[in-house]
Amino acid sequence: MRAVVFNQYGGPDVLEWVEGPEPPVKPNTVRIQVQAASVNAIDWKIRSGQMGGQSTDDFPLFLGFDAAGVVDRIGEGATGVEVGDEVFGLGSGTYAEVAVLRSFAAKPSEVSWEEAAAAGVAGETSVRALSLLAVTEGTTLLIDGAAGGVGAVAVQVAVARGARVIATSSEANFDYLNALGATPIRYGEGMTDRVRTLSPRGVEAVFDVAGKTPMPQLVSLVEDPQQVVSIANFAAGEYGARATGGGGDAAAAMAEIAGLLSEGRLHIEVLTYPMSAAAAAHRLLQEGHVRGKLVLVP
Ligand SMILES: NC(=O)c1ccc[n+]([C@@H]2O[C@H](COP(=O)([O-])OP(=O)(O)OC[C@H]3O[C@@H](n4cnc5c(N)ncnc54)[C@H](OP(=O)(O)O)[C@@H]3O)[C@@H](O)[C@H]2O)c1
Repeated sequence: MRAVVFNQYGGPDVLEWVEGPEPPVKPNTVRIQVQAASVNAIDWKIRSGQMGGQSTDDFPLFLGFDAAGVVDRIGEGATGVEVGDEVFGLGSGTYAEVAVLRSFAAKPSEVSWEEAAAAGVAGETSVRALSLLAVTEGTTLLIDGAAGGVGAVAVQVAVARGARVIATSSEANFDYLNALGATPIRYGEGMTDRVRTLSPRGVEAVFDVAGKTPMPQLVSLVEDPQQVVSIANFAAGEYGARATGGGGDAAAAMAEIAGLLSEGRLHIEVLTYPMSAAAAAHRLLQEGHVRGKLVLVP
């Protein structure tokens, strides 16, 4: 099989599309013939060496944490799935023709491979953060950084739960966020004033997706600082807010996301590249203004 690998940390051009061994299936996982994989911000951070942690002896390194595809092997203990099933979800080394998923759900037949692949990490992260914030019917929620991969999914999950969503983006994405059911406002200087214009007593919950607004400003919008959850600012705890990097029920999250996709309540705008052009996708994502998700196809 072919896979995207890199043999040194660096810019997008370290990525290579090369032949390699197929990954073995492990207990409680499935192996898939990948039809599409998504590009997540963590991927370019790993590639550039920002995440550290791995010895250079481990090269070549593989990338990718979500995908959609057709099951070709079933690991011991994995239940409710058969060879030939179409699934999507979370795994590793998904920028490849064959990859292993550890948390997955059936791909709704009416949803494209690309959209299903895009729903993995963004879906799990959104459900995890909104559950920590107890977002439910009637919650007034600010999503800061709403037009990108995670934000656009979080808006739709929150709207589906009956929340009132105020969402930040550049003006270029206002129509997009309106169409998803949110009230858009500009991020940057004066953002908290714009929130208070819409919701004078602040909000009940803040999902900090972008990690760019100073934490004291976000905390000033809620009664209890714990009602700010960040996925990108790990200094949140210094201000009484919370940061999350994992630990949710990923299988349940995938089931919720599959339900929203099949009901037509979750749509993800995708821009698709061949896996051989993963470097171009990384270059664009790193600029920080992608709407929706970038997806790779073998
Ligand atoms: N902790 C976790 O579990 C976890 C999981 C997934 C992702 N993450 C992290 O979460 C962050 C967001 O991920 P993502 O996939 O959504 O990234 P992304 O798709 O690259 O985000 C792009 C979006 O960010 C918006 N943006 C840029 N500057 C902004 C600002 N100053 N304020 C608000 N929004 C701004 C852009 O909107 P405009 O184009 O309108 O400017 C664009 O739509 C990344 O740092 C990622 O590593 C963490």
